[in-house]
Amino acid sequence: MLVVGVVGSPRKDGLTNKLVSEALAGAQSMGATIKKIYLIDYEIEPWTPEHTKAPEELNKIMREADGYIIGAPVYYLDINGLTKDFLDTVDLGNSNGKPGFGITIAGGTGKGLVLAIKSIYYFFFCKNIRALEPLPVSRFNFEKALKKANELGRKLAEEAKMKKPFKSLEERIRYFSSIKYMNMDMVDEILLLAEQLLKSSPKQEYKEEAMSYYKRAKELISKGEKNKAITYAVKAYELLYY
Ligand SMILES: Cc1cc2nc3c(=O)[nH]c(=O)nc-3n(C[C@H](O)[C@H](O)[C@H](O)COP(=O)(O)O)c2cc1C
Repeated sequence: MLVVGVVGSPRKDGLTNKLVSEALAGAQSMGATIKKIYLIDYEIEPWTPEHTKAPEELNKIMREADGYIIGAPVYYLDINGLTKDFLDTVDLGNSNGKPGFGITIAGGTGKGLVLAIKSIYYFFFCKNIRALEPLPVSRFNFEKALKKANELGRKLAEEAKMKKPFKSLEERIRYFSSIKYMNMDMVDEILLLAEQLLKSSPKQEYKEEAMSYYKRAKELISKGEKNKAITYAVKAYELLYY
């Protein structure tokens, strides 16, 4: 059983690599054979009518895989271009029912960790991949995320033992609509970051005030007043940002 981990960052020793490596370690501890791919090692070009496929060596590895881990850095609230060009051109063959999960790392302000993960999951949707829970990561939840990466890697190895193909578009839409984070927008995301900061920010002196803003934002959202909630969600985030 082969689990492939893709490092979408051009920085081979960056945070994406750390997370993908930890996920692969988890898969390996469950008996999977693992392979790590650094996209920067390949000549990956954007899709054009003249150039529609990623390098065949890469396609072959991806077709042989029983499970996928796709890790990408967040650039301007989305996955980076290198990862997107790879997703646009890779030939997975029949991937219906193979498991996979995505990791995004928004290593700056944290913004985009959730928005970007959706891009990977749209790809999974189109390729009929039975996606596990996503792992959106920022500087603020990094240590916890490493543990989660290992956990998800182990789960992936279990799931990779048997393909569970989708039987219809309806089933696929239902499946992907219920995946955590898929229905989150920019407001939900900033609130999630505030939540992470409440746990990890060194600016403890602002914690109480930030918590009251956070609670107010949550309350407004639960009443359907999302637009008003933005003020409080941003206040909580900005107070604790470091
Ligand atoms: C062009 C560019 C845009 C970026 N945009 C964001 C962003 O929107 N949000 C964020 O939190 N970090 C942003 N970053 C920071 C990266 O997410 C961060 O450096 C991350 O650690 C990169 O992953 P790596 O360490 O695997 O290379 C950006 C970096 C670059 C180069």
